Amino acid sequence: MQRVDEVIRQRLSSQVALIDQISGYIISAGGKRIRPRLVLLVAEALGYQGAARFELAAVVEFIHTATLLHDDVVDESSLRRGRATANAAFGNAASVLVGDFLYSRAFQMMVSVQNMRVLSVLADATNVIAEGEVLQLMNMHDPDLSVDDYLRVIRFKTAKLFEASARLGAVLAGADEATEEACAGYGRALGTAFQLVDDLLDYEGDSHALGKNVGDDLREGKPTLPLLVAMDRADAGERALIRGAIEHGATEELSQILAIVRRTGALDATREAAESEAVKARDCLGALPDSWARDALLELCSRSVHRTS
Ligand code: IPE
Ligand code: IPE
Ligand code: MG
Ligand code: MG
Repeated sequence: MQRVDEVIRQRLSSQVALIDQISGYIISAGGKRIRPRLVLLVAEALGYQGAARFELAAVVEFIHTATLLHDDVVDESSLRRGRATANAAFGNAASVLVGDFLYSRAFQMMVSVQNMRVLSVLADATNVIAEGEVLQLMNMHDPDLSVDDYLRVIRFKTAKLFEASARLGAVLAGADEATEEACAGYGRALGTAFQLVDDLLDYEGDSHALGKNVGDDLREGKPTLPLLVAMDRADAGERALIRGAIEHGATEELSQILAIVRRTGALDATREAAESEAVKARDCLGALPDSWARDALLELCSRSVHRTS
């Protein structure tokens, strides 16, 4: 991961001062760097030791960071990685444009690996992520969203990049098709668990630990699993309250709705859904030979479900 950080530092540079400033601002704030870890661990587990793994690990972190710059504009978020979001500090226009810079820099870097399969995996992933964010936009304020349609959004916007990251490790290692698909399946299930927990933490997490504001999903009227389950289990009056909050966003009703979400067990149900995705991810790892890297990938399954940040 130190080598990945070196690549990130080198490739961030631009002659345009504002790009250096904003991209440095968000990247230096840290983040968990899970996606680059997936590239490195899968490559390691399959015996690949070449330098391209560091380049591609940095690529997926750049793509992730670009989506965060854009996502925080769309979600009007003000806190990320424990500091003011780039949109809060530098404005929406600068955030969108520097996000574009990071995306296109990531494409320059992936071309340098000179592997058509790598390009194909990453071109597909970025396209699906964009579809996921647009789908989510279309679902905003819709209290009748089905659980399947909710899951589709999180598969697209989040799980796809986890899937691509794990798949890239296998592609670099020249793995056979079955092994590559198992790695991709691992990433997809892990990413789904990860976003389910993100949506859970937006209700019961701690803002300081997360480095993000909590409660924003409800305030915005974003229909995530905690609300969908709560509506399903609540009585008619409570259901109407939640529907109204999704349709118009909630401010005064926040604590009342949080109580309903807790009482109906919707948070536990969300954690259980994440847990069952983590089990799927764990099962996929059966395709990899025993190694410390495989153990680390296994550990990521439980950590993604039981995390607080
Ligand atoms: C945040 O991802 C966006 C989601 C997909 C939930 P992370 O939680 O991996 O963000 P950082 O990189 O650690 O800040
Ligand atoms: C993840 O969704 C966004 C991306 C995949 C870019 P969220 O909107 O829930 O992520 P946070 O909570 O802002 O990190
Ligand atoms: Mg967001
Ligand atoms: Mg979130």
